[in-house]
Amino acid sequence: MPGRPLPSRRTVLRSAAAAPVAGLGLAACSPGDDGAAPARPTAPVDLGAEGAVAGGEAKLYRDENVVVSRGEDGALKAFSTVCTHAGCPIKKLEGAKLVCPCHGSEFDARSGEVLHAPATVALVELPVEVKQGRIVVSPGT
Ligand code: FES
Repeated sequence: MPGRPLPSRRTVLRSAAAAPVAGLGLAACSPGDDGAAPARPTAPVDLGAEGAVAGGEAKLYRDENVVVSRGEDGALKAFSTVCTHAGCPIKKLEGAKLVCPCHGSEFDARSGEVLHAPATVALVELPVEVKQGRIVVSPGT
C-alpha cells in the first residue's frame, strides 16, 4: 500500500537536533550587565539636588544601585538596591515598592523591608546626608 515514505534515520536525527530543548531556556539570574555582581557604593556618592526627593516619596538611582526616600518629617533614608536574595540590581520602583527583576522579590523603599519573597533579608541601609543642598550617600559598614 503506497503512502508517504518513512523518514530516513538521518532526517529524524536532524529534526531532533533542531528542536528546542524545553527547560533550558529558563531565565538565569544575571546580576550585572557584564556578569559581575553589582556593587554598593564604595565611596561617598553625590546623588544630586536634595529637592529631587519630595516628602513621602522615594527615588531610585539606578546607576548607583541606591534608593533614597524621604519621610513626611523630611528625614532621608537610603538603601542599597542590590537584591539580598541573589544579588541582582533592582531597577524598578513602583511608588514605594522596589521590584527585583530576577525572581520577583519586593522591598519597601522607605524601610528596606521585604514585602515579597523569595528574599528574606531587608535591603542594606546606607548612611545618607545633605551636604550643601546635595544628597550624599556613603558606603555601609
Ligand atoms: Fe532573586 Fe532578587 S536576586 S529576587
